[in-house]
Amino acid sequence: MSYSYSDPFPMRVLTGIQPTNVLHIGNLFGALIPALELQKENDLYMMIADYHAITVPHEAHALNESILTVAAAYLAVGIDPTKTVLFQQSQISAHTELAWILETIAYMGEAKRMTQFKDKSGDKQDNVSVGLFAYPILMAADILLYDAKNVPVGHDQKQHLELARDLAQRFNSSHGQTFVVPDPLICKHGARLKSLTEPDKKMSKSAASAKSYISLMDDPDLIHKKIRSAVTDSQQLITFDESREGLYNLLTIFSLATGRPADEIANEYIEKGMKELKDNLSEVLCSYLLPIQTKMKKLLGDKQELTRIINNGSASAKKVADAKLKEVKKKIGVIL
Ligand code: AMP
Ligand code: TRP
Repeated sequence: MSYSYSDPFPMRVLTGIQPTNVLHIGNLFGALIPALELQKENDLYMMIADYHAITVPHEAHALNESILTVAAAYLAVGIDPTKTVLFQQSQISAHTELAWILETIAYMGEAKRMTQFKDKSGDKQDNVSVGLFAYPILMAADILLYDAKNVPVGHDQKQHLELARDLAQRFNSSHGQTFVVPDPLICKHGARLKSLTEPDKKMSKSAASAKSYISLMDDPDLIHKKIRSAVTDSQQLITFDESREGLYNLLTIFSLATGRPADEIANEYIEKGMKELKDNLSEVLCSYLLPIQTKMKKLLGDKQELTRIINNGSASAKKVADAKLKEVKKKIGVIL
């Protein structure tokens, strides 16, 4: 995964992830590991977007656990809380306050055009929450509060980023330069891992079957079982060919877990066959995940310490967010 910058100064980068219980290897290779790269050269703000997670029905206890699990996963892969500001969105009331202010300049038409809202609400748009509708505006507030220049997101979030840019420009043109206009950072040769059972779909935590993904918490036995039953095709030779979706996905995972090019791995297994490839993939993946899993368990075993880390990060983020909100409130004329 490579992000490249020509700018010699550390750039403010903000990422957000919604806390959900199941974190899978798609999230690991698509979000957590790239974040680790970003931490090296940037001023990184990493947000647990818990107020986004309540825009759909949820269970309180599960959300609480998920917030801790996401934090533990980031720390376990190597996010260093002394370098990166790891924080919890709901601890900083400036997010919801700025969201309100931005809602007053966002148009109904632009919010209605958001394809994720249309997808998630389906044909029952009158019965989903107002929060789900307003979610992209809260996301804009998340970004604009921190003067984030770059925002790493998946393709599905690109439209939300465009809305954040439009709102920043609109506010700036009415009230003078206030917000940095953010750019999306779309991971180029991103690992879009596919479902193990339906390789034409992306690996997703909302999939009906747990066999379709490998959770960061799966033990070696389960990983072996899931990889063994992963859907491939009936061709004999092992080749790295995008049209052979299931096999392509397994080779991609193999490559990510070993750092070796996928076509080189395919060549090594060309005549060995699928069973040997799957067995060896399970082994390399288990070894890759083991240290991460061990650290996650340790972190989750001391919830007080984990909470302390999250609270500390949130206190630093709050200072930045509060200062920006104050500037905004002055500009709109509510500070006496
Ligand atoms: P989500 O789980 O959809 O909320 O996504 C959280 C983060 O993980 C986002 O940055 C996604 O781009 C990334 N992600 C989710 N699913 C995958 C996948 N199957 N492959 C790669 N990255 C993924
Ligand atoms: N909506 C994002 C997602 O589902 C998560 C998110 C919330 C986010 N606020 C953000 C991402 C701010 C980047 C910046 O993936």
